[in-house]
Amino acid sequence: MGTSDTKTVELANYRPTDFVLERVDLTFELDPTNTKVDARLIFHRRDGADPRAPLVLNGDELTLSGLLLDQNEVPAGQYDVTPQSLTIRNLPEAVPFEITVTTFINPEANTQLMGLYRTNGVYCTQCEAEGFRRITYFPDRPDVLAPYTITIIADKAANPLLLSNGNFLGGGNYDEGRHFAAWFDPHPKPSYLFALVAGDLGVVEDTFTTMSGRDVALKIYVEHGKEPRAAYAMDALKRSMKWDEERFGREYDLDIFMIVAVSDFNMGAMENKGLNVFNDKYVLADPETATDQDYANIEAIIAHEYFHNWTGNRITCRDWFQLCLKEGLTVYRDHEFSADMRSRAVKRIAEVRHLKSEQFPEDAGPLAHPVRPTKYREINNFYTTTVYEKGSEVTRMIATLLGAEGFKKGMDLYFERHDGDAATVEDFVKCFEDANGRDLSQFSLWYHQAGTPMVSASGAYDPAAATFTLSLEQMIPATPGQSAKEPMHIPLSFALILDNGSTAAPTAVAGGEVTGDVLHLTERKQTFTFSGVSSRPVLSLNRGFSAPINLHLDRSTDDLVHIARHDSDLFARWQALNDLILPVLMEGARDVRDGGTVTCPSAVISALIEIAGNDALEPAFRAQVLALPSEADIARELGSNNDPDAIHTARTTVLTAVAEAGRPVFQHLFETMKNSAGFSPDAASAGRRALRNSALGYLTYAEQSPVRAAEAFASADNMTDLVQALSVLAHRFPDAEEADAALGAFVTRFDDNPLVIDKWLSVQATIPGAGALDRVKALMENRHFVASNPNRVRALVGSFAFSNPTGFNRADGEGYRFLAERILAIDPKNPQLAARLLTSMRSWRSLEPVRADHARAALLTIDRSVELSSDVRDIVDRMLK
Ligand code: ARG
Ligand code: ZN
Repeated sequence: MGTSDTKTVELANYRPTDFVLERVDLTFELDPTNTKVDARLIFHRRDGADPRAPLVLNGDELTLSGLLLDQNEVPAGQYDVTPQSLTIRNLPEAVPFEITVTTFINPEANTQLMGLYRTNGVYCTQCEAEGFRRITYFPDRPDVLAPYTITIIADKAANPLLLSNGNFLGGGNYDEGRHFAAWFDPHPKPSYLFALVAGDLGVVEDTFTTMSGRDVALKIYVEHGKEPRAAYAMDALKRSMKWDEERFGREYDLDIFMIVAVSDFNMGAMENKGLNVFNDKYVLADPETATDQDYANIEAIIAHEYFHNWTGNRITCRDWFQLCLKEGLTVYRDHEFSADMRSRAVKRIAEVRHLKSEQFPEDAGPLAHPVRPTKYREINNFYTTTVYEKGSEVTRMIATLLGAEGFKKGMDLYFERHDGDAATVEDFVKCFEDANGRDLSQFSLWYHQAGTPMVSASGAYDPAAATFTLSLEQMIPATPGQSAKEPMHIPLSFALILDNGSTAAPTAVAGGEVTGDVLHLTERKQTFTFSGVSSRPVLSLNRGFSAPINLHLDRSTDDLVHIARHDSDLFARWQALNDLILPVLMEGARDVRDGGTVTCPSAVISALIEIAGNDALEPAFRAQVLALPSEADIARELGSNNDPDAIHTARTTVLTAVAEAGRPVFQHLFETMKNSAGFSPDAASAGRRALRNSALGYLTYAEQSPVRAAEAFASADNMTDLVQALSVLAHRFPDAEEADAALGAFVTRFDDNPLVIDKWLSVQATIPGAGALDRVKALMENRHFVASNPNRVRALVGSFAFSNPTGFNRADGEGYRFLAERILAIDPKNPQLAARLLTSMRSWRSLEPVRADHARAALLTIDRSVELSSDVRDIVDRMLK
């Protein structure tokens, strides 16, 4: 936030504050354009701190209108104030003192959506990471923790609801039609967890009885009339609370837990203590308007924010370099929760697909950074997939290394030792070391070295000696600021699969540590020899994606088909099929780019179709297998000189070949996978829908006609089927009457539901080919598109830039020029949103030269703008470096 002249913050410069904050007392007199904030802060000088050190408080676009020290006005000579900071000198050396700061802020004008702002007539806050300083001058850093008392005064008719963190103290009528409410949060917290919501909202209520028998009131606030659409979120919340008790022994700690859904929000959701604020898209769902993916997201994000109550709130971060301490760990926890609620293998496949499509490109490009970075210019740009998803994978590897019991011991120690602390990654790792008597110093490199490690593996079987030898070599690519890397500790889950499909049980292993089915690669080059292997096995390696690496392992088609048929790990079966098809797609893309044609080996095609038709396998798994690597996946694996049009052509050719060869199977699936009973969002029903829609997609390739999809659109009785049919029509037959008719019917039917309109925008923004840009431009003029709403912008501009490889990467560079224009228009209003959109160009250097030149030119246009936010400045600088 702020302007672009911010300087780099370095971990090495961390030091504690000179003053300890004892308590916080805030009074808000809410007004849409002129809200008064009185902050009473009690401090004392830290033991050993410099007795003359001044108190320095952070601000952002603030104006000071009152300053008291122990209730007396502070003389002008005793303080300095700017919009960014308030410095007070000559403070007491040994006794606590009280500072009262008065500021006036304008929520209506706050388009950054950081601090206190208005959305649909509701007051709401977003303070992470540094939004609190836009409310009042404050030591706005996560290692300053205090209990908060909050008083909110507001017009009663417009704001019947006055909410903040903690437990409700009381309220009543005030003057001139106003009323007030007071809240007290006894748990010391940093300012980024503060929240305030005021307005007129509907509520869904429930209760949860904790494991020690306390009743907790649960409330989800949504716009009036939308209450029925919050039922699934409430159910997910109760399941999350129960699961955290059972799996991690964590109990909720206030009398009330509230969630508020708002329609203007920069991110997914926020874990403010006792008062989570959510992007409404991650709360509202019903069969008519939400897809299965929406349901799964709601379940995961409700859980994620709830789990933060322990991993993030009770134990918070010492500084923002430690962000993965709460985010990586909490993503791991929500992944495990979803795995327990749904199919574990299918969930894992989806996670790995997401990791590879989002985090691997980040780690391989100009924005690469360690899970625990050591410097930043703009902290908002570090809420990344590396911190979140790779951070989660690092936590998962600790669990893999230590086993379930050892991991639990470490977590228990962490909760016991650090409850109430602002902790570091080192503190976290130490708990696992201490609880297990294990040295994790080499393992910790996962936090510090950026880049996706590459592991090359080759196996050799010696029938005479009955040994299997596995040679491994690891290489960690150079990343910005890190040229040389140390070898890492890489846990590789493996199996040696025999001819009959069973797993070999070697009598001995030499060459390194092996625990259970995990081998520990710790050296740059390492050879493991397994004895007592009586026949030639097929190696299944990195099962379950035990380590987030790029694995290079040459295996024959026959061997991969063997794994796809026989591995007891369903994830490994998916991986094997992926390893079969990916080279075909890559080869095809290269051939098309160089003017050749695509060849599709029939063994690969029949392996896919065999899985598709195997009724012994769960439908959701088969749908994952049939969802071939995306165009972005192919581009990432190719790595350089990418031509998105060639990739698209190659992939379409392969899809068509699969469709033609498997036509009877797809026909059968399309007919039999329909759920007979009414709609249920459960994972098994969702899996059947996914498989049936996948079959529809293939049949459309085989039939080359929009008729079947148009029928599917007309007969759909839930949003998943409806939007799938719509995408098939729009993406495959954009010029057909059927597509037009379906798009028209869709927008008419959901005219009053912006979250569904977002799907309509995304479907059109992702129609392949150069024509997409004109469609996107036209849609920006559509009355449904609201340029100030982040969800609308992400649905239209974001989908185009992130998810339309052929449309966005038009060979003439118009896509990049359009994005640059959008970014410069959005940046002055909402820098976080602008910076996030810009990351869609993070892989620009791997494009073929003509497109790469256009991309660079567009980036330079942004770079040359003088008025950039620190958010966009930071990203564009790193992208051009
Ligand atoms: N802590 C929130 C969550 O992951 C996200 C906050 C994002 N903040 C930001 N400035 N981008 O649950
Ligand atoms: Zn989080």
